[in-house]
Amino acid sequence: MLLAQISDLHIKPPGRLAYGKVDTAALLRAAVASLTRLSPRPDVVLATGDLVDGGHAEEYALLQEILTPLAVPCFVVAGNHDERHPLREVFQGPGFGYLDQAGEFLQYAVDLGGLRLLVLDTVVPGEGRGQLCRERLRWLDERLAEDRRPTLVAMHHPPFATGIEHMDDMGLEGAEAFESIVAPYAHLERILCGHLHRSIQCRVGGTIASVCPSTAHQVALDLRPGASGAFIMEPPGYQLHLWQGGRLISHTCPVGDFSGPFPFG
Ligand SMILES: [Fe+2]
Ligand SMILES: [Fe+2]
Repeated sequence: MLLAQISDLHIKPPGRLAYGKVDTAALLRAAVASLTRLSPRPDVVLATGDLVDGGHAEEYALLQEILTPLAVPCFVVAGNHDERHPLREVFQGPGFGYLDQAGEFLQYAVDLGGLRLLVLDTVVPGEGRGQLCRERLRWLDERLAEDRRPTLVAMHHPPFATGIEHMDDMGLEGAEAFESIVAPYAHLERILCGHLHRSIQCRVGGTIASVCPSTAHQVALDLRPGASGAFIMEPPGYQLHLWQGGRLISHTCPVGDFSGPFPFG
């Protein structure tokens, strides 16, 4: 089973650039083209939030159009730039039935065969920070307790501080409670996140939490206390998570025009 993770797509209304500079739609089209050229092709795609930039229905409609060539099940996670209502209005019908099981929060469980996927909603409407309240955490605890198959948890805000201060300032409230809930569950294979627009890994509650790069702009790496936030056009990318032999093997794949591949011999 091959799961492709894309994150922080930040799709704008047609013809608009993010921050006046970034053509997020063109960059996502390039990522989708790269994914459709893969052999083997991913079995499923997981999009870990900030799907669009302003939470508008026209942005979700454009996003859906850009994702169509993937032609595999696509599981969406809400991020701080998303709006639950227009997201659900656009992403419905065949292929998105999993959203029907979500209540107020966009949380749902998916059977991926040998693997189980639990999607969490960390959104605080109108704010950049994330939150896991008691209700959302109880749902997670119940889902983890009811099924001992290897499980992936997907959420937009990572449950750890990264050292990039301006991003940590809009981090995840409830991260400590989250960690104490997941720690006893040895079948939790990985925590897949977005929000940071970089590839980052950290141990959380005995498993690995990881952040996927953005398909568009990246957050500039600046570990100085007090450093102001900035983005940088480092290579965009996605991650491929291969479930093989009872392990999840994660590859980070930049998207761009690179020379090669060349044979070693
Ligand atoms: Fe983002
Ligand atoms: Fe975000």
